Amino acid sequence: MKSILAVVLTLLIGHHALADGNAEYKYREGVMRTVGGQMSSLAAILRGRVHFENLKFHARGMADLAEIVPHVFPEGSGVHQSEALPAIWEQPDEFKMAVEKFVKAAKGIATAAEGGDMSEIGPAMKSLGQACKGCHDNYREEDD
Ligand code: HEC
Repeated sequence: MKSILAVVLTLLIGHHALADGNAEYKYREGVMRTVGGQMSSLAAILRGRVHFENLKFHARGMADLAEIVPHVFPEGSGVHQSEALPAIWEQPDEFKMAVEKFVKAAKGIATAAEGGDMSEIGPAMKSLGQACKGCHDNYREEDD
């Protein structure tokens, strides 16, 4: 009897942990898509020279997301569908640096866009792009 209870408990707890990992992954996916959306809009404005008046809103949106991104990689969220690589949890200090680089770059584009000086927006956008790529190169599975 006791051992059956132990098995049931293990299953319940195991299932619960899995469900949380999936929920965390789903949340991260939504956040990352939003990051991607803001990036597309920023790039479209700068390349296509349209809706410049909205640049600061997208840049501010990116800076807001930078408050969220450090919290979307909890341990156990590297579920099956996820493209997050184990290195995230195996090299937490290095990963933290990649996150911080992004946070700094996102705040940088917000400040530059608020000021409206094109000579600052270009380099800020470049740093931001490098922060995405730097992290994806090391911590995200390559798309086939
Ligand atoms: C600190 C690391 C890191 C940074 C910085 C980062 N990403 Fe990601 N990104 C990831 C990881 C890891 C995934 C895969 C997440 C998963 O599948 O669980 C991802 C996924 C994505 C996705 C796919 C979302 C989906 O549909 O599943 C997009 C789009 C994306 N990132 C865009 C960006 C852009 C644009 C930037 C920069 C403005 C950026 N990311 C910065 C780590 C990062």
